[in-house]
Amino acid sequence: MPRFLTYNENVRKFLDILRASEDFVSGELIANQLGITRAQIFKIVKKLEKYGYKFEKSRKGYKILNSPDIPFPWEIGENTVFFYKTDSTQERAKLLFENLKIRENTWVLAFTQTKGKGRLGRKWESPEGNFYGSIVLKADIPLKEIVKLSLLGGLSVFRTISDYGVKNAKIKWPNDVWIIQDKPKKISGCIAEAYGEAEKINYVVLGVGVNVKKSPLPESTSLSEVLDKEASLVEFVRKYIQEFENIWKRFLSGFWFELKTEIEQNMWRGKVKVIRDSKEFEGFCSGIAEDGVLLVQKEDASVEKVYYGDILIKF
Ligand code: BTN
Repeated sequence: MPRFLTYNENVRKFLDILRASEDFVSGELIANQLGITRAQIFKIVKKLEKYGYKFEKSRKGYKILNSPDIPFPWEIGENTVFFYKTDSTQERAKLLFENLKIRENTWVLAFTQTKGKGRLGRKWESPEGNFYGSIVLKADIPLKEIVKLSLLGGLSVFRTISDYGVKNAKIKWPNDVWIIQDKPKKISGCIAEAYGEAEKINYVVLGVGVNVKKSPLPESTSLSEVLDKEASLVEFVRKYIQEFENIWKRFLSGFWFELKTEIEQNMWRGKVKVIRDSKEFEGFCSGIAEDGVLLVQKEDASVEKVYYGDILIKF
């Protein structure tokens, strides 16, 4: 089994043809459509069976019976690579990019991670069935504004899950999405790590984790739990990547202000406790500043800019 899997156009087209037909499709017909030999079709079938796909075969050809719910690159799109199991997609994306194995804007996906990284040095629990992805981005922004990228990752999660009809989601600065119910529960998180020298960012690795099928902690939830039915991981990853792509294009075209307004409209604006350098204070989230930092209004009505730290929802 290779260390990571890449996109394959013929595999994608092969699956598309079988999925579009309720009946058997002959190997010869598919081979002609793809411009390859029947022996190559046979190889594709063998490869897909190894990855858990099920086909019915007869003299009339092939019929697809079952596909695993795993975000293989041929299920998601061209700019993706996939690991069944890796330490952290953050680490893999950085190494693959530096060793010229991937270009910027490529998503590095994993089915499970053994050393998933959370913010502030925390661990990100990564059971199979959830979304784990990291993307290398190039943006001409100062280091102190890197928080904007975590916010864009969070906005993409917010839009994607809202598209499923989830109504009670809120973005929590700088990177999470929470489901606000009797007890607020976290459904996703983002981390943005910059590489370069001093203030000059060369590239950023943005990592996104979304609990799609499993809720690994008592204080978390999952999309399946919220919808009360099992959500498809492949469908979620496709939608998320599309949403992020739209948002990223908008950001690069200079529409940060419009995106910031959308984030403010959908963020947790209630009471919070801010924990920073072992000091803490309470206040109300009143919005985000032009440079992406959080604005917290304190009891004495003064507004404090929060550049980093842990923000806890007070409910
Ligand atoms: C947080 O809320 O603390 C941020 C969590 C970010 C988790 C994602 S999962 C994909 C990517 N790879 C990692 O190791 N971490 C990020």
